[in-house]
Amino acid sequence: MPKILVTRRTFSVALAALRASGADVVIWEDHESPSQEDLIKAVADVHGLYAHITNQVNAEVMDAAPNLKVIAEFGVGYDNIDIIAANERGIAVCNTPGILSESTADEAFTLLASMARRTNDLSAMVKRGEWGDFDPLSYLANDIHHKTIGIVGMGKIGSEMAKRAKGFSMNVLYFNRNKRDEEFGASYVDSLEELLERSDYVSLHNPLTPETMNMMSTVQFKLMKKSAILINTTRGAVVDQDALYLALKSGELAGAALDVTVPEPIPADHPLLTLDNCLIMPHVASATVDTRMKMAMMSVENVLACVSGDWPPYCVNQAAIAGNARIKGVYNC
Ligand code: DGY
Repeated sequence: MPKILVTRRTFSVALAALRASGADVVIWEDHESPSQEDLIKAVADVHGLYAHITNQVNAEVMDAAPNLKVIAEFGVGYDNIDIIAANERGIAVCNTPGILSESTADEAFTLLASMARRTNDLSAMVKRGEWGDFDPLSYLANDIHHKTIGIVGMGKIGSEMAKRAKGFSMNVLYFNRNKRDEEFGASYVDSLEELLERSDYVSLHNPLTPETMNMMSTVQFKLMKKSAILINTTRGAVVDQDALYLALKSGELAGAALDVTVPEPIPADHPLLTLDNCLIMPHVASATVDTRMKMAMMSVENVLACVSGDWPPYCVNQAAIAGNARIKGVYNC
């Protein structure tokens, strides 16, 4: 009987669908994600791994799992999986594309609006009992409408962000590896530098890769307007956090809102948490009931390929492993 390991608690409907497949389903029930050592032990006899962002699924994990056919990531980003190691071993890697784009863009735009209109620091001030007399010159925020947003990475989430920005009458620029159709009235710029120089708000939507690691650092912050606000809902490592702290502290950059950090969770004594102009959320851009449920069901569809021997519907490396995929047939691994 194929065995599936699910590395976090999941929705009961997803669990029921997994169990209905006839597979032996093991859930990692602990409050914390498995340590690397625990993960290596737990995968020993699994055929399908339903993984999460907190699992580093590297070559060592894969080698500890000689029967592993499918790694189904709960999420669209799969930078926690060593895709080259998976390709070499013929293991299918899957994700949950599309269904979380709108929720993620909702969150990115919420962060933008919160920073622009200072809902974070001003509401904290009211709670501290420091709301003073009406003053035309106090508590001033920034407009959203008719300002320029620069979207880095015009994939599904980036284009949902563009749609929201247009709804708020913003001028939308984007930078992407490839020029796309002028979706939602967004204008392509030839370089990241131009986007940074022209934007009042910069929202990051590109995946974490070796090329995008620390893509936003001292040089990039200096190119941005001093009044600009950075929004990051992709991966923490795309931003050099030490450089960001210095830019925010020195006034080189007006503000930042981060849904993602390095590490996660960010330690309570991290310097970024001392800044009023930095808003940090606990990696929740896709965390709505409806979206997380859809992600769980899509992960189920993917991981169940290890039971049927069929290609998972959302496989990211099918072309790379077509010749040596372990997925073909239940017992040929
Ligand atoms: C994603 O889908 O990549 C989210 O960040 C959750 O990991």
